[in-house]
Amino acid sequence: MNIVKATDDNIIAAAEIIKKGGIAAFPTETVYGLGADALNPIAVAKVFEAKNRPFFDPLIVHIAELSDMDKITKNVDAKSYELMERFWPGPLTVILEKKDCVPHIVTSSLPNVAVRMPFHKIALEFIEKSGTPIAAPSANRFGCLSPTNAEHVYNQLGDSVDIIIDAGPSTFGIESTIIKILEEKIYLLRHGAITKEDIEEFIKEPLLLDAANDKIETPGQLPYHYSTDKQIILLDKIANIEERCGYLFYKKPHFTIPENRSMILSGRGNLREAAANLFSHLHYLDRLDIDKIYAEKIEEKGLGIAIMDRLNKASMKNL
Ligand code: TXA
Ligand code: MG
Repeated sequence: MNIVKATDDNIIAAAEIIKKGGIAAFPTETVYGLGADALNPIAVAKVFEAKNRPFFDPLIVHIAELSDMDKITKNVDAKSYELMERFWPGPLTVILEKKDCVPHIVTSSLPNVAVRMPFHKIALEFIEKSGTPIAAPSANRFGCLSPTNAEHVYNQLGDSVDIIIDAGPSTFGIESTIIKILEEKIYLLRHGAITKEDIEEFIKEPLLLDAANDKIETPGQLPYHYSTDKQIILLDKIANIEERCGYLFYKKPHFTIPENRSMILSGRGNLREAAANLFSHLHYLDRLDIDKIYAEKIEEKGLGIAIMDRLNKASMKNL
């Protein structure tokens, strides 16, 4: 078993693995990441291999300090800077022009690199001790549910990862929001832990959702993703209970539910709590001896948009 507690010694050990070209899973405030030295293409290839991820899907590069940006990006515009200063460290990923030192494998040969500075203390320590930017996708097998704790990582990737740093559950539980600035316009490429409203309130202009603009590359945003083994069926309201089915409720329902196969995202209907529980509840339901999972839809407002994006994609696979 390669899971270790997030002690100083273990973080140093994980950083040593990175320096030697290995791969390490680490906690962030969104989901667990599977990291490699972003400037070492062979190490990054191991991440793709462990996840069985297609090479057309580029990785986010994680940094610990703003000055690390200069190592990997160039021509950073003023608007991107303002957004980074406001939301970093935190769950915002910004697409920027890359320097030549960033290997093609990291960006799938795009001229841009996705960069994020996580907020999680252990993630920052791990990146800093590694002494290099860390390329890291979520630490799951490609197309499967994202991991929000160390056990989720182990269950999907096992010993193909050199080390898994365990710092308990991720607080946000949903991935970072991805934005890209092109000709002074700000595009939202992925809904995530920072809401559209949060960003718009700061920039005082509407975010553009039209990523179909052919100048905006949005690789990896497949219509289905986050797949469970069990089929997920989305319902406006769960009204009756069937045998051999699992249930994912948003709030506590007013009728009796089968305790052993029902999960509630947030008893009191808090979206932040719901996002934090989303993947772990789905991981739990997916491992039960049931035939399918019914999930209740959530109003698409604030974090509800990012949650529904994940649920919609998760339910697409089996259609
Ligand atoms: O919260 C997160 O962002 C987590 C943690 C570990 O930081 N990471 C994460 O990585 O969600 P991943 O690989 O599961 O999702 C990254 C997304 C993919 O959809 C990928 O296509 C997109 O970011 N992406 C990466 N580089 C890009 C680029 N240069 N241009 C456009 N999209 C990019
Ligand atoms: Mg992912």
